[in-house]
Amino acid sequence: PEDVRSLLLSRIKDVADYPKPGVMFKDITPLLADPEAFGALTGALVELAGRYGATKIVGLEARGFILAAPVAVQAGIGFVPVRKAGKLPGATLAQSYELEYGTAEIEVHAEDLATGDRVMVIDDVLATGGTAEASLSLIRRAGAEVAGVAVLMELSFLPGRAKLAGSLAGAPLDALIVV
Ligand code: PRP
Ligand code: MG
Repeated sequence: PEDVRSLLLSRIKDVADYPKPGVMFKDITPLLADPEAFGALTGALVELAGRYGATKIVGLEARGFILAAPVAVQAGIGFVPVRKAGKLPGATLAQSYELEYGTAEIEVHAEDLATGDRVMVIDDVLATGGTAEASLSLIRRAGAEVAGVAVLMELSFLPGRAKLAGSLAGAPLDALIVV
C-alpha cells in the first residue's frame, strides 16, 4: 500500500558521491533502525512470500541477509544464505557474474536447496540485475524452482528488470519502491 511505500521511502537516505564521485548511494540504515519501518518492510515481504507460495527464502549477502532473515522467521520457512565466494564450508554451487569492473562470484550450499523447493529471493536493491540473475541460476542448478524475486528498491534508470526477464521465466519480480 501507498502508506507503507512512503514510510519506507522516507527512511532511505540519499548519500551523494558514495562509494565514488557521481554515484548516489541509497542508505537503508535509517530504515533498519526504525522498528516501525523495518516491521512494515518485513510484513510486506512476508505477504509476497505467501503470494509466491514460497517454501524457502534466499537472502543475498550482505544487505539481502538483513531483510530476508526476519521474513523467513515470520513466514515460518527456512532461510538459505547465498554468499560471496569462499565463505561457505560445505559443498557449494558457484556462479560468477559481471560487475562494472571485472567479475564476482556467489555460492550456495548445494544441500540447502532441492527439487520441490519454491524459492523466494530477497535483496535490498536491483541495479544492473547481475547479482539477482546469478542467484536464480544457482537456485535452478540446485534443482529448485524460482517462486519470485522481491527487492526493497529497483533502480529504474538501470536495465536490471530487462536483464532479469529471461531468467525469471515468468516468475514475478516485485519492487516495493521504484526510484
Ligand atoms: C549491492 C546490492 C545488491 C546488488 C545490486 O550489493 O546490495 O545486492 O549490489 O546490484 P546489481 O543488480 O547490479 O547486481 P553489493 O554486493 O554491492 O554489497 P553488499 O554486500 O553490501 O550487499
Ligand atoms: Mg548486495
